[in-house]
Amino acid sequence: MINILLVSSDPGRSQQITAVIAASGIGHQLKTLANGLQQVCADKDALQTTDLLIFDGYHLTQDDIDALEKLSSRHRELVCTLITPEPSHEVLMQAMRAGVRNVALWPIDRDSFIADIKRVAGRRAEADHRDGKVLSFVSSKGGSGATFVAVNLGYALATLRDKRVLLVDLNQQFGDAAHLVCDKNPPATIAEVCAQIDRLDASFFDACLTHAYPNFDVLAGAGDPVKAVDIKVPHLEQIVKLVRRQYDFVLFDVGQSVNPVSIFALDHSDLIFPVLQSSVPHIRAGQKLLGLLQSLGYPGERVRVLLNRHEKRGRIDLKTVEGVIGVKVYNALPNDARPVLDAINQGVPVIKQHKNSPISKSLAELAETLAPAPKASGNTMLTKLFRSKPRAQPSPA
Ligand SMILES: Nc1ncnc2c1ncn2[C@@H]1O[C@H](COP(=O)(O)OP(=O)(O)O)[C@@H](O)[C@H]1O
Ligand SMILES: [Mg+2]
Repeated sequence: MINILLVSSDPGRSQQITAVIAASGIGHQLKTLANGLQQVCADKDALQTTDLLIFDGYHLTQDDIDALEKLSSRHRELVCTLITPEPSHEVLMQAMRAGVRNVALWPIDRDSFIADIKRVAGRRAEADHRDGKVLSFVSSKGGSGATFVAVNLGYALATLRDKRVLLVDLNQQFGDAAHLVCDKNPPATIAEVCAQIDRLDASFFDACLTHAYPNFDVLAGAGDPVKAVDIKVPHLEQIVKLVRRQYDFVLFDVGQSVNPVSIFALDHSDLIFPVLQSSVPHIRAGQKLLGLLQSLGYPGERVRVLLNRHEKRGRIDLKTVEGVIGVKVYNALPNDARPVLDAINQGVPVIKQHKNSPISKSLAELAETLAPAPKASGNTMLTKLFRSKPRAQPSPA
């Protein structure tokens, strides 16, 4: 069942569109508005439950494009379909930039119009059953790079793999994860969410998040061991239950300390990433951490060692590290001091700042192994329109 909002100022076209949807056999609820997009923009809750907004843009104006942009940035899960006769390349580009996912030509081609709605219905059904993958990052020793990797991998999954990602900062002492990728002040920390756990629902939780980038939210860390005492296992249990349905990936930056709360996160993790470096103190600490994870009963296939700041020509090579810790390294991330420092100093993801640096490429590869790209099908009307050759310009008389 999907919720559709049709905005059309023309009763004739509105009726025809309604008839096509009614005959499609797709389970839906349809609401029709005649007063244009401005009204939808003014009503904050109008799109709260809408999955698909169909806008009849027969006489499309710049105001409409601006309104569509506003709506799609405010409602990131919303799919917008624009109905328009003969759109120019510029209009298509503008519509895409404004967040329009589908363009249907008027008069409507039933088959492709219904195919687009079916795609939305499929996504909706998927979202209803979304069961986010939980990944935990554990620092073998302070400064291993667990926070850096977790945060930047989260950004890579969100932007390069188009996944909805939440990073939960469980560090008790520093709680610096949010500041590593954006300069927004977190509206609340996990400790504050836990202190008001009775209020926990999707909208309260959303108001507590740092919306770092589209698709990438961060729940800031307590940042103070005294406040962190308020975070209890039943609280985290409620949070995990809520967020697994809303995100494709939930990443826990567990930090170094193993306590009941971090063990709860590890227990509920699909994959656990201990983060090591290839120096003797780090390897020793890594050995201990791996032993601890083993004694907590986590099976080997769930524990994936990340060797951070690795130097191919360094003193201790990969084989030696693997020999000492007794397990294979899942991924070795290069030491890439300048881009990392630059990104951290500016509080932006390294991929955003230095896309072609070795560390960015390595993080992108890791994101790709965790969320492989689907094989391209790409037959939406929008891609067809872009693919089609430009109309022949009429020759000057
Ligand atoms: N791959 C890397 N290359 C270069 N420097 C790195 C890399 N990964 C992390 N660092 C540096 O190490 C510092 C500590 O990392 P951090 O993520 O805070 O460690 P942890 O969370 O394990 O304590 C970062 O601030 C960054 O300067
Ligand atoms: Mg850290």
